[in-house]
Amino acid sequence: MIAVYPGSFDPVTLGHVDIIGRAAKITNKLVVAVLKNSSKSPMFNVQERVETLREVCLGIRNVEIAAFDGLLVEYARSIGANAIIRGLRAVTDFEYEFQMALSNRMLDDNIETLFISTNAQYSYISSSVVKEIARLGGDFSQMVPKAAHIKLLQKMGSM
Ligand code: PNS
Repeated sequence: MIAVYPGSFDPVTLGHVDIIGRAAKITNKLVVAVLKNSSKSPMFNVQERVETLREVCLGIRNVEIAAFDGLLVEYARSIGANAIIRGLRAVTDFEYEFQMALSNRMLDDNIETLFISTNAQYSYISSSVVKEIARLGGDFSQMVPKAAHIKLLQKMGSM
């Protein structure tokens, strides 16, 4: 199975890394796909987000990092993926995720959305909370992989 794991990854968190590791185990190839033009204005540009993910996923053989734009199902089709992976942290994620999954199914019935639950220890982590803590000078080192921690500290220093 070729799967795509899409997201903003602004920045990648330990929750994302956990999902990538779990998804990589059950897929032949996993493409972690970073959304280029999100309506949210990202802290990191797409190149920075792709680079950080590449560093973080270096040791995982069947994982590739890419950027995408436009409709996710079209991107999935273009790379021959027949599954979309999304992580679920808690029931609060469900409504939005279910809406996206059904919309994507309406767009392409051949691409299946698979949900993987995040390890409980990461269930409270989100990229938005990480950014808020970073902006306010708090310690977020237990929420992100080392590469993202360094990049966030650099970004804070240059702001
Ligand atoms: O990490 P995020 O921000 O929760 O990821 C959201 C993402 C990138 C999966 C979603 O916004 C997306 O798929 N965008 C591409 C546009 C698209 O296909 N929209 C229709 C399906 S809802």
